[in-house]
Amino acid sequence: YTVSTPPTERTLVLVKPDAVRRGLLGEILGRFERKGLVVEALVLRTMDAAMADQHYADHVDKDFYPPLKDFMTSGPLAALVLSGDTVIDVVRAMIGATDGRKAAAGTIRGDLALSNRENLVHASDSPESAKRELSLWFPELSL
Ligand code: TYD
Repeated sequence: YTVSTPPTERTLVLVKPDAVRRGLLGEILGRFERKGLVVEALVLRTMDAAMADQHYADHVDKDFYPPLKDFMTSGPLAALVLSGDTVIDVVRAMIGATDGRKAAAGTIRGDLALSNRENLVHASDSPESAKRELSLWFPELSL
């Protein structure tokens, strides 16, 4: 007896330093677990400047990047690999709009953030960015 299962997709999520400082790691991980997503890898790590520049390669020239870099390197964050059916889009919907003041209620940012910078969570926004970010954060997993 065999069942066809949807191909599993993976995404890279960062629970940012503001979330760890505020004690929201469990709350945020719990939302992903209750949704039915699988935590395949999880590490606490403090980003250094070089890692920030690589992770935010698309943003390094933007005006908002210097304070963003200071924030992202300000303390430990949790990097995780999540998997599940269409997990990239599912997690983007769960985290909500970038600006916590505008993110819809019910989303992580909408419920828990009030800032356009300290917005608790990063998640890959496309298959291409997931591939790039997973290999940057978890090179040993050959995802
Ligand atoms: P972006 O990729 O546009 O958003 P998202 O995290 O929702 O994919 O921006 C990356 C991060 O940069 C964002 O999470 C917070 C920060 N940021 C600012 O600090 N100011 C801004 O004006 C924007 C657009 C982003």
